[in-house]
Amino acid sequence: MMDFLEFFNLKENPFKLTPDVDFFYMSSVHQEALASLEYLLNSEEGFAVIIGEPGTGKTITIRKFLSQIPDNVEYAYILFPNLSPEELFMAILEDFGIQLSDKVSKNKLFSTLRDFLIQKRKEGKKVLVIIDEAQNLPVETLEELRILSNLETDKEKLLQIILLGQPELEEKLNSSELRQLRQRISILTSLSNLDYREMVDYINYRLSKAGNSTIRISEKAYKAIYKYTQGNLRLINLLMERALMSAFVENKHQIDKENIESAAESLALRKETENKKYPVLIGVFAFIVFIFAGGFAYIYFSDKNPPKRNTVIKKINKSAIQHKFGIVIASTLNMRESPSINSKIINKLRRGDKIEIVEDTGDWVKVKKDTLQGWVKKEYIKIENGTAKKTNQPDNRKEF
Ligand SMILES: Nc1ncnc2c1ncn2[C@@H]1O[C@H](COP(=O)(O)OP(=O)(O)OP(=O)(O)O)[C@@H](O)[C@H]1O
Ligand SMILES: [Mg+2]
Repeated sequence: MMDFLEFFNLKENPFKLTPDVDFFYMSSVHQEALASLEYLLNSEEGFAVIIGEPGTGKTITIRKFLSQIPDNVEYAYILFPNLSPEELFMAILEDFGIQLSDKVSKNKLFSTLRDFLIQKRKEGKKVLVIIDEAQNLPVETLEELRILSNLETDKEKLLQIILLGQPELEEKLNSSELRQLRQRISILTSLSNLDYREMVDYINYRLSKAGNSTIRISEKAYKAIYKYTQGNLRLINLLMERALMSAFVENKHQIDKENIESAAESLALRKETENKKYPVLIGVFAFIVFIFAGGFAYIYFSDKNPPKRNTVIKKINKSAIQHKFGIVIASTLNMRESPSINSKIINKLRRGDKIEIVEDTGDWVKVKKDTLQGWVKKEYIKIENGTAKKTNQPDNRKEF
């Protein structure tokens, strides 16, 4: 059977979600971020920080940087940094190929790391420690990184540290507890979404990288893509992959606005600008609904349970699931306060995590992990009846 790649004459999926450096697109913000990392290497600074919302390309940018790093640089790359200082030191040492037993004290870990760095300096090497998703670093561990970065010979620093993280990282760094660390950070760049022109260019670049630069996308389609994604690279990829499939199903070699609309619907994406058009009217309307619903809820719930906040009106199908369990299949999955990609992240789940399904609304499910409840995108979990089984479908995607 023909698949959409074959149909469009593509060698591979142009919009796959893995941060593959072969598909790296040099937008102006990504170029700036790369330049800041190169500057770090040629300077005596201790830290460089890259901040960006989810899906703006932090991970692919660091991979690009590492793919072209000079031979005299050695690095450790840490991805799941929700670690105590001891665990972080251990992870760094492990990445450099040094194994220590679990029972080693923090001092011993620190001195082993210091000796390693001194050795590398003698060999004429530079050492980098890169921490991705650094917004998850506990404050205490961040503070310990500052102490680590103080290690120097009489002339030079022994290691340089790159932190990549979502905007919460910058908030953390600006907190008064981390004042001393913040003062040492002079290289800080931000990644942002693409503007319309770069978005168009990005889409064509990825299509041609994947083997076909002749797929036509109408201007209305581009406009719709921008409305739904605001130029966010991960969202563009998600949307474009579905749009290609939608055109394939219709046996069409061109992408039109309708394909974008149906792709967006299947992803439950909202048009950002729609809400901005009539903000006052929408506000008033929402207020009336709120009062009305609130009154109703008050009457309805007054002698039962207190009314729930964040009630979802769309597509609720409460009867669907009771006492079901799921397994996270994406490599990381954000658990959110409410069923929207714009809502606050309250927990990060990892592949293999077992969760209880509390409520199913179609695209989103409310889940319970330990005692914490929140919402996750359904496509990134595998739901089982009764007990949860380990899945045999690993999925390297990260949820947006
Ligand atoms: N400059 C770029 N060139 C090509 N693809 C990109 C670029 N930036 C982002 N992407 C694509 O967008 C998606 C998200 O990128 P990436 O995983 O690097 O984002 P991130 O900022 O690390 O997100 P998160 O905060 O969730 O970890 C990936 O599919 C990646 O391939
Ligand atoms: Mg990332």
